[in-house]
Amino acid sequence: MTTRRGKNLGSFTVEAEIGRGGMGVVILARQQNLERPAVLKKIRSDLTEFPELAERFEREARTAAAIHHQNVVAVYDRFSWRGDHYIAQEFVDGVDLSTALTRIGGSLPWRIAALISLEVIRGLEEIHSYGTVHRDLKPANILLGRRGEVKIGDFGLALDATGSSLTQPGVMIGSPPYMPPEQMLGQRVDARCDLFSFGVVLYEMLAGRLPFPEPKDDETDSLLARMQRQRYERVRRRAPATPRFLASLVKVCLRAKPARRAASASALRRRLEERLGRPSSADVRAELTSWLWERGVFELKENETVLRVIEPRLEDERSLRWVPGALACGAVVATLLLVDIGPSPPEPLAIYPAAALAAPDAPDAKGEDSCPPGMIPDPDALPAQTGPDDTNDTRASDSAEAESDPTCIPG
Ligand SMILES: Nc1ncnc2c1ncn2[C@@H]1O[C@H](COP(=O)(O)OP(=O)(O)O)[C@@H](O)[C@H]1O
Ligand SMILES: [Mg+2]
Repeated sequence: MTTRRGKNLGSFTVEAEIGRGGMGVVILARQQNLERPAVLKKIRSDLTEFPELAERFEREARTAAAIHHQNVVAVYDRFSWRGDHYIAQEFVDGVDLSTALTRIGGSLPWRIAALISLEVIRGLEEIHSYGTVHRDLKPANILLGRRGEVKIGDFGLALDATGSSLTQPGVMIGSPPYMPPEQMLGQRVDARCDLFSFGVVLYEMLAGRLPFPEPKDDETDSLLARMQRQRYERVRRRAPATPRFLASLVKVCLRAKPARRAASASALRRRLEERLGRPSSADVRAELTSWLWERGVFELKENETVLRVIEPRLEDERSLRWVPGALACGAVVATLLLVDIGPSPPEPLAIYPAAALAAPDAPDAKGEDSCPPGMIPDPDALPAQTGPDDTNDTRASDSAEAESDPTCIPG
């Protein structure tokens, strides 16, 4: 049964149903007293009769609520309303990674995959620091916000610091292609379990397919056997532009024996940061926003406006300087401002209500407003980083240096 728009559930008002999973319904709602959007996860009514599942649901809320990190979906509340159980959490306005991969048509350029991975591993590092193991890391549980946020959600299978978890009555024990052998075998798992899943997700983003797909009917090797024997196509064979450091990172995560696998999320995070030029989460968000919007992963909402300025390429810059153009976007009242010269560097992209653009002094993403008083934007400034499509470029750390170039000059 669908959950009716406008229905009140405690202090939340239903806006729309946004998904249905193994455990129940996912609802977009508005928290009235704080006037903010929220997502309510409601346990399926036919499952409420299993006390263990209700307990798991409660555990999911408690475990996730303890963690405060920008790469982990925040939990606002847990409550029961007319016999149903709900978890209220932060609404990540965007899509999950699984949907994004489908919309993009498979794989991502290595740098985009690496940036998403960096944010995921930052989230995992935090989760592990609480002694929690997520146990269900996969694209459907990684959310990408329209402003480039990357957040881990769905703690439905998480193992808390006491080591207790619930696996009865056989619902949702995990997603086999993402589960390491020890989890499949029902053995004791620790944080390295999530690192295996992390490796699978990274592989999938780079290669556009799973390293260990579910076996077809005529295949004799089971999923487990292939994982144990490390039988998978090397990522650089499927995605030759992948730099070696990233391919070896995948390899070390996919090892069957936990003792031979990457040791910790922190070690992986440090390695990625080092090779990507130590981008902050804000840097990553800016780069991801540009790329994801450009690839049509998100849709403009009514009355929404995207401002975007792309700087000229070196060879074009003498003749083409900040030539703004306007492009009406379909029937919606949204407008996309572009200075489009050459391949797009990952410039910041701002999303405004359309009304903001109508104002005479509407802010420009790189306009004079972005410079201190007495300064104007430097028209000769070079693109800060390599274009997102430049998949062969392995100079990630060089580009970070360029990023510190000043873009304002005395005016
Ligand atoms: N906080 C959220 N913000 C936005 N979308 C969400 C949020 N939580 C879940 N979703 C969407 O709902 C789907 C199912 O939610 P999830 O928490 O993974 O529940 P399940 O236990 O059913 O897998 C996700 O894949 C995602 O697309
Ligand atoms: Mg899920």
